[in-house]
Amino acid sequence: MRLACLAAAGLEGVDGYVVQVEVSRIEPTTGIGRTTVVGLPDIAVRESIDRITPALVSSGFRHPPADHVVVNLAPADRRKEGPAFDLAIALGLAATVSENGLELPADTLFLAELALNGNLRPVRGVLPAVIAARDAGLVRAVVAPGNLAEAAVVRGIAVYAPVNLAECVSLIREGFTAAPTVLVESLEVIYQGPCLSDVRGQEHAKRALIIAAAGGHNLLLIGPPGSGKTMLARRLPGLLPPMTSEEALDASRVHSVSGLLPAGAGLLRERPFRAPHHNVSGVGLIGGGSIPRPGEVSLAHQGVLFLDELPEFPRQVLETLRQPLEDGHLTISRSGGRVRFPAQVTLIAAMNPCPCGYLGHPTRRCVDSADATHRYRSRISGPLLDRIDLHLDVPAQRPDVMLLESGGGDTSVEVRARVCAARDRMLARQGVANARLDSRGLRTHLHATADALSLLQQAAEELGLSARAHDRCLKVARTVADLDAREQVQLDDVAEAVGYRVLDRPAA
Ligand SMILES: Nc1ncnc2c1ncn2[C@@H]1O[C@H](COP(=O)(O)OP(=O)(O)OP(=O)(O)O)[C@@H](O)[C@H]1O
Ligand SMILES: [Mg+2]
Repeated sequence: MRLACLAAAGLEGVDGYVVQVEVSRIEPTTGIGRTTVVGLPDIAVRESIDRITPALVSSGFRHPPADHVVVNLAPADRRKEGPAFDLAIALGLAATVSENGLELPADTLFLAELALNGNLRPVRGVLPAVIAARDAGLVRAVVAPGNLAEAAVVRGIAVYAPVNLAECVSLIREGFTAAPTVLVESLEVIYQGPCLSDVRGQEHAKRALIIAAAGGHNLLLIGPPGSGKTMLARRLPGLLPPMTSEEALDASRVHSVSGLLPAGAGLLRERPFRAPHHNVSGVGLIGGGSIPRPGEVSLAHQGVLFLDELPEFPRQVLETLRQPLEDGHLTISRSGGRVRFPAQVTLIAAMNPCPCGYLGHPTRRCVDSADATHRYRSRISGPLLDRIDLHLDVPAQRPDVMLLESGGGDTSVEVRARVCAARDRMLARQGVANARLDSRGLRTHLHATADALSLLQQAAEELGLSARAHDRCLKVARTVADLDAREQVQLDDVAEAVGYRVLDRPAA
């Protein structure tokens, strides 16, 4: 019997873990050989044997068909899925035939799918897998060329990306004397998205957008068709502070696991902006499945989740957002335990004030009954609304404003600089954006004047604000003060924050 052992990696949620691939081969005296894969493999892993055999043969290795082979993937209690184990299993099989003369290193991660001709193909989740390998003390990783960029952003582990199995074996035989790939990473991005100055008028909404960007507050825009809600929402990412390298790594893990990192890109450079259509399923929005995958809210981690036409989303789908919006992460239960996905997003949503869209319009008549409007609005539950810090009217734009040459006002780049300054102030004071302050942190860092607090108390009573909405108002007021570089939250800051609660006001 010959035995070979090497390292691959599996995924759980957005985390990787090292898997030891053990291959044992027994040469039988008679009969037809049998290959068994054990250690909770899924169908794709079991099928890998069928892909690997031609890959081995076409790469010039001997793989006697009469042998009994057992492939063990340890730890045995975690489910292994997908084709990422191909390369490790193929090398293990080759190393257990003495004529192949192959000794495998124990300190190297091997992670790629194999094509029938022996070429290495990219797989999902390489970024977290390489991070896990490094943390487990492995010194190098071998991945497919298509995964090179995302593997190479991980510091402290050498990365190689051979084109095919034969080239991989040459690297092993030479003892990896070739220089590994080193990526020159620059996180500097030049913003190329749409500019805030394209929007004409709507100063009130622009102001709210800036507050949302600075403090990381959730925002709901309510207005008639064509008033610019979608246009405004799409300009939020351009106002947000650029990601730190840690945030970029954090967001990129989710995209890596979903196989959504742009080809050739090591990390996401821009904060993600996800705008799922309202026919998205609950699983599509928050994640799940038999092998849990991140949903849109996790793909928007560290960025923006945009829900346009909010009342068109099925209510039960929207309800699933409650936990991630509150906690910044979500947990999905499945047979083998619980998986945690990150979901720290700024939510921006848009809706019409009523089904026809023209309630409160200066010139057009709304044709909806009060009942229909009530039903339409009640598709968004109180608890969800409670998690939205700013809600405001975006009225129809006056025709004379639309005739102006350009929108005028500040560009996204100019606004972003102000947002960054305010965000830096928050981070220096309390380590997180204002929207992420917990109740204790809020009380410690608020610094509000007595009249500001008593105004809020009065407004909370009048509007019937919940304790959560009350705190969210305070956080918005804190952000208003931060945008103004003021230590203290004053009366006007609270008044402005309370002004962004149109849906809490009794209907006119
Ligand atoms: N304030 C504005 N400044 C400049 N252009 C605008 C403005 N509002 C609307 N527009 C123009 O009208 C188009 C439609 O705007 P947008 O899609 O943002 O409307 P909306 O409020 O989302 O409407 P709906 O409720 O129908 O979704 C925009 O693409 C833009 O060309
Ligand atoms: Mg729209």
